[in-house]
Amino acid sequence: MSGYIELSNGVRIPSIGFGTWQTPDGKTAEHAVSFALRNGYSHIDAAAIYGNEKGVGAGIRASGVPRERIFVTSKVWNTERGYETTRKAFRKTLSDLGLDYLDLYLIHWPANRKQFGNADEINLETWMAMTDLYKEGKIRAIGVSNFLPHHLEPLMETSVKPMVDQIEYHPGCLQDETVRFCQKNRIAVEAWSPLGQGRVLGDPELARIAAHYGKSTAQLCIRVALQNSVIPLPKSVTESRIRENIDVYDFEISAEDMAEIRAMGDFGGSGLNPDEVDF
Ligand code: A2P
Repeated sequence: MSGYIELSNGVRIPSIGFGTWQTPDGKTAEHAVSFALRNGYSHIDAAAIYGNEKGVGAGIRASGVPRERIFVTSKVWNTERGYETTRKAFRKTLSDLGLDYLDLYLIHWPANRKQFGNADEINLETWMAMTDLYKEGKIRAIGVSNFLPHHLEPLMETSVKPMVDQIEYHPGCLQDETVRFCQKNRIAVEAWSPLGQGRVLGDPELARIAAHYGKSTAQLCIRVALQNSVIPLPKSVTESRIRENIDVYDFEISAEDMAEIRAMGDFGGSGLNPDEVDF
C-alpha cells in the first residue's frame, strides 16, 4: 500500500510511520499499534521517553505481523547521552519492546550549548555508541532527531553518517533550511507531529485546499510531507483516524497548492527550538 524511501545505506524505510508519542502505555498502546499494523502501516515510531514501549511491543506481537515485515524505530533520551549510558538505554529499549534488534535508533535531541559547554563532544560520544551498535548489527540504521544543520555537521565527519533526522514538520513548520541540508546530504527527513499535534487541523485555508481533493485536512498534511519526500509519523489512538491517516495514496496536491501551503509561513508550531530547550 505505502511506498518506501531508501536510506543512504540501502535500507528501505516505509514512507509513512505510526507515531506513539502521548499514547498511554498498556492496552491503549497495544491496541493502537496492533490495529495500525493490521490496517496498512508497517512502520512504528517509538521512544523510551514516551513511557509506552512495553505496550508498543505488546501491540507488535498482538498484530501477528512477522517482525521482519515491520520497521521499528526508537530513540535514546537526553538523560542517557554518552557512550555507556546510550548502550545501556538501547538494551532497556530492546527489552521493553521485547525485540532483539531495531530497524532505526535515533538520538532524541542534540545536547545544546545553552546547557553544555561541551555539547558537540557529548553528541559525538553518543554518536559513537550508536555507530558501534550499528556496526555490531544490532540496528539496521541510525540517525538523530531535532538536529539542526550545525548539530549535524560534526557527525558528518565520522565513519558512519546519520541516515535520518526526525524533526517537527507540518504546514506552518516546514523547516526549509534543515530539510534542504538533510536532503542534500542523503539524510532522510522524518516528520514528528505532521498534524501539528492537531493544532493546524482547524486552519480554514488548509481545510479549503483539502476539500478541493475530497480529503480531510489531516490527510492533506500527511500528503504535504510525502510530496516533499519527508516521512510523516502521524499519531492516533482512534481507529477511524488511524485508517484515515494512511489513506493518502489516491490524490496528488498540485504544485500550485503546494506553493500556497509553503507561502502560509510559520504557524501552529510547538515552539521547541533545539538550541533553546532546557530538557
Ligand atoms: P487521537 O490520538 O486522540 O486520535 P500529531 O501526529 O501531529 O502529533 O497529531 C496527533 C494528534 O492529532 C492527536 O491528538 C490525535 O488524536 C489527533 N489526530 C490524529 N489523526 C487525526 C485525524 N485524522 N483527524 C483529527 N485529529 C487527528
